[in-house]
Amino acid sequence: MPQAYYNREAGIERLATETGAGQWGSALAFATSHFEMDCTVYMVRASYEQKPYRKMMMQVWGADCHSSPSTLTASGRAMLEKDPDTTGSLGIAISEAVEDAATHANTNYALGSVLNHVCLHQSVIGLEAREQLASVDDYPDVVIACVGGGSNFAGTAFPFAGDKLTGKHPDVDIIGVEPAACPTLTKGLYAYDYGDEAGLTPMLMMYTLGHDFVPPAIHAGGLRYHGDSPIVSKLVKDGVARAVSLYQNEVFEAAQTFARTEGIIPAPEAAHAIRTAIDVALECRKTGEAKTILFNNSGHGHFDLASYEAYYAGNLPDYDYPEELIRDALSRLPKVA
Ligand SMILES: Cc1ncc(COP(=O)(O)O)c(C=O)c1O
Repeated sequence: MPQAYYNREAGIERLATETGAGQWGSALAFATSHFEMDCTVYMVRASYEQKPYRKMMMQVWGADCHSSPSTLTASGRAMLEKDPDTTGSLGIAISEAVEDAATHANTNYALGSVLNHVCLHQSVIGLEAREQLASVDDYPDVVIACVGGGSNFAGTAFPFAGDKLTGKHPDVDIIGVEPAACPTLTKGLYAYDYGDEAGLTPMLMMYTLGHDFVPPAIHAGGLRYHGDSPIVSKLVKDGVARAVSLYQNEVFEAAQTFARTEGIIPAPEAAHAIRTAIDVALECRKTGEAKTILFNNSGHGHFDLASYEAYYAGNLPDYDYPEELIRDALSRLPKVA
């Protein structure tokens, strides 16, 4: 809403954006429809194919949604030429959206994660969670959220990171959870890199797996990003927050437990946080410690039922850490003096 609003105030008529799982693409499609703007969304191919109903949701709100890489942009065509069967990545979809904005009049690019203003908008989540806990005289010992580009984690964790840094709650344990198939915070380099595959964005100081790293096609499509928010990266680098990585099957097992216990079917991305919350709780059971655990269930999984089906059919590969691919991509980091 704020991104659409401020662009409209500046006289912009159309927004171009990327989306992984499709949550941000549908959110922006809804926002632009409110302000009578046009919206074009480049959706990562793997997710576009895994959850086609997200595309229709965007159509309902009047946006055009294209599978990325597409033939509409030079970056998309170059990628298709290099690898016609590519699963796509957020880095590629960002290149397409940035190029689209740069080559059309009255169009701006809107980013759904990573950047400071996006993290700031999301922090309403953590601020509200802190108020809700305060209303029952509680404060979390552990704060958990999954990490793709980092805005969901930032939104949940930044208010608590602030309390930790200012000494109000120095012991709060803040955990970001990512897929083992795209282990940016746990296995990436802390370096300057581009936010997109084609190198069209400014460089960001962040944990990165290399801007042209294409992660395996896990079902948590929203977590398939090679980099991370610079502020989130800095918090992990400084030890204010820590990161863990998980395989798909342990994540879906936790998703099923949560669905059966709470009646809510979570998105595969959100289930990363759920798995970690369950693990922390099980550890408490072992040690006999009582802890208040806050986690963000960042999205429902109603459009992800095909991935639940694949889990039940035993068809979800637990991708090993793609070390070779990452080493190769990291060899092409931009040279910074
Ligand atoms: C349900 C859900 N949770 C979390 C995320 C993570 O997003 P980010 O870390 O980029 O804010 C996504 C991304 O698409 C998502 O779909």
